[in-house]
Amino acid sequence: MIATSPFALATCQPGMERALKAEVARLRPDLHSGFQRPGLVTFKATHSPFRADEAPATVFSRLWAASAGPCLTPDAVFATAADIGSVRLFLGPRDVSPPEDHAPALRAALHDELAGWERALRPAFTTGPIGVGELVLDVLVWPGEPPVVGWHRHGPQRHQEPGGAITVAVPAGVPSRGFRKVAEALRTFSPTLAAGDLVLELGSSPGGGTRAWLEAGCRVVAVDPQPLHAEVRANAGVHSFASRVGDLDPAQLPPGIRWVACDAGLSADDLVSALNRLGPALQQVRGWLVMLPVADDAAAKRLPAALQKLASLGASKVAARQLPSNRGDVVVFGQR
Ligand SMILES: C[S@@+](CC[C@H](N)C(=O)[O-])C[C@H]1O[C@@H](n2cnc3c(N)ncnc32)[C@H](O)[C@@H]1O
Repeated sequence: MIATSPFALATCQPGMERALKAEVARLRPDLHSGFQRPGLVTFKATHSPFRADEAPATVFSRLWAASAGPCLTPDAVFATAADIGSVRLFLGPRDVSPPEDHAPALRAALHDELAGWERALRPAFTTGPIGVGELVLDVLVWPGEPPVVGWHRHGPQRHQEPGGAITVAVPAGVPSRGFRKVAEALRTFSPTLAAGDLVLELGSSPGGGTRAWLEAGCRVVAVDPQPLHAEVRANAGVHSFASRVGDLDPAQLPPGIRWVACDAGLSADDLVSALNRLGPALQQVRGWLVMLPVADDAAAKRLPAALQKLASLGASKVAARQLPSNRGDVVVFGQR
């Protein structure tokens, strides 16, 4: 069984490779970036080999793995699996953005590429649920390119699906991608929600995120100057304010708000001042889930300071990730 490699690999949203490398340079200066493709960066471990159970706490990564490099043929993949001692397979594309974001021709090519590797590889691997501690081979495919192969030690803190995807069943009639964003974040950070918990949601229109909170068993106070989709607004668990957060009077808010969610494009500074102003109505808040804009490299660079600012809301733990349905934003979770 081989549990380390001189190389590591991480996947990210295509276009965010620079942001990921900047984070790694700050958090893990021993990892030096090397070969990269859109949405995938490899690193040489210069201090000690990269362990299959390592996953640096980077915001922009979708997954981390010890790297075996490209494998041109199925036999090369089998040889790598045998060397490592892995009988488990995660086979997926390196870019896990929602399929609807891809052009139809690329989608078809990706489907064919995956189907071909699936046929060739799957019979040689064990199927069924993967146990904690098992070594899993990550085979990351892309049309017309040899798969890049890595491996990781499986566990609750690691990616749970091939390529770092997060499968979300989206109910019919959901009005926006906000549903996926909130559902992926709830899956990733597992806040301790109780049935009927009240969520103050800033920037709720048209209501995808609201639907996700409702599906999670919560009730929602939705704040947005734009209207909620009629079906969402009609839900008995939703109370909406047609207002900007800055115009909201804390006395208007119902008692017992447990969570604050924000997808209003607000900066950390603006959000913290808005929430401080609403303080009297937020005494029972247990945590918050915030979509923070990171439109460019400069915003990505300011992220650590923004996270510190959000931590001033009183969280004992703050974590941030760019998840598959995030685009120009990352999701930040804080729990008191
Ligand atoms: C990305 S959309 C929200 C999507 C929504 N969460 C969903 O899941 O469908 C951003 C929303 O933030 C709202 N917004 C912007 N500034 C705001 C503010 N200061 N207070 C409340 N809402 C705001 C906008 O009107 C817009 O509807």
